[in-house]
Amino acid sequence: MTMTHDNSALWLTKKGGRRLESGPAPSTPPKAGEIVVRNRAIAVNPVDWMTVSIGGMVYPWLTYPAVLGSDVAGDVVEVGPGVTRFQVGDRVVGMAVGVEKNRNAAAEGAFQLFTVLLEHMASPLPDGVSYENAAVLPLTLSTAACGLFEPQLLGLDLPTAKPVATGQTVVIWGGSTSVGSNAIQLAVAAGYDVIATASPKNFDYVRGLGASQAFDYNNDSAVADILGALTGKTLAGVLAVGTGSTGPCIEIAAGAGAGAGVGATAGAGAAGAASARGSKRVATASVPVTFDALANRTWTRLPVAVPILVRFVLAQARLTRQARKAGVTVGSIWGATLKDNFVGPAIYRDFLPRALADGSFRAAPEPLVVGAGLDAIAGALDSLHEGVSARKIVVTL
Ligand SMILES: NC(=O)c1ccc[n+]([C@@H]2O[C@H](COP(=O)([O-])OP(=O)(O)OC[C@H]3O[C@@H](n4cnc5c(N)ncnc54)[C@H](OP(=O)(O)O)[C@@H]3O)[C@@H](O)[C@H]2O)c1
Repeated sequence: MTMTHDNSALWLTKKGGRRLESGPAPSTPPKAGEIVVRNRAIAVNPVDWMTVSIGGMVYPWLTYPAVLGSDVAGDVVEVGPGVTRFQVGDRVVGMAVGVEKNRNAAAEGAFQLFTVLLEHMASPLPDGVSYENAAVLPLTLSTAACGLFEPQLLGLDLPTAKPVATGQTVVIWGGSTSVGSNAIQLAVAAGYDVIATASPKNFDYVRGLGASQAFDYNNDSAVADILGALTGKTLAGVLAVGTGSTGPCIEIAAGAGAGAGVGATAGAGAAGAASARGSKRVATASVPVTFDALANRTWTRLPVAVPILVRFVLAQARLTRQARKAGVTVGSIWGATLKDNFVGPAIYRDFLPRALADGSFRAAPEPLVVGAGLDAIAGALDSLHEGVSARKIVVTL
């Protein structure tokens, strides 16, 4: 039986230029392996702000009008053929993937009342976790999981309910970001010791998520301090989160990995207080320059765009040279690739439901609810651009 939902969406009507309009949207039935969710809370991400403000740089394939947004929490209202994990009425959190190249579907964007989700990218929500809390998770949880677990990135062991210590350490630069908050918890649940960076005001926050040590990334000595803390340890890999994070993370991987290849360990026979050994891999979530200066301009304003693009290309080339010289492998994260490989189900089906239910995984950071209704999303994107610290901006629907 086909159901019809009274749907409305926040449409991005054209490429860039903040052409956001709320209005009616189709009611789309779920296909095999899909569910339809009545969204109760959504979160906004830097990539949404960039897409709205700057245009087609991030998702050049996107057709318009488009519905953006990745993070939803709400109630299941329909299940597609073959879906057995969910029933109508279940409370869920899930990653909306409508902007991805192989989906490109407005019905699968988060910024609307009803969203079609892939079943394997959604998790049931325990009673103790509110929609607002849960909405902070999907894109940044996914980004952290891709970086840590995809074999071509750090390729770490998957998280489990009963972690077994691996005896290895992961460095997470940008531990107080949303991506970092999830990465710390995932790495700990996978049995790794975690060293994180954050501003000192967030040291307790990152330690509370499971980091064993915290360092201030604003200090000139941050790389040396982290290398000191890694002395005698085995590095499993470095996750770089935040603008400008890739360079120092290459230095850490190079310093700690000196004399050892990927996956090598500092065996029991390592001489005295030997420096750390291990992986020379960095997975990076962030590009090396910000595109803020392009906000609200179109690509026809080339005099503004060109210098920023030139800076971007030069910065990338510098990082490539730095990595090659240091023998470090740097991989870029695309936070939705897990939907097409084993990592998506490993997180959303096998790990998150149990970990949220038993409290071993926290929906972090705390939500900052800035409004209600689709029309509050434009303001939420502006609040995001003004900057947050260990908070995620959320709108209720
Ligand atoms: N590749 C992907 O698919 C993907 C997906 C999602 C996000 N991202 C990227 O990941 C990054 C984090 O996104 P998010 O949503 O998690 O961010 P967020 O939560 O909005 O980040 C805010 C935090 O960033 C920290 N911070 C600011 N500048 C930093 C720097 N230079 N190095 C390290 N930390 C810094 C601040 O920490 P303190 O307050 O402690 O100083 C602040 O708490 C962004 O660059 C975003 O574009 C990439």
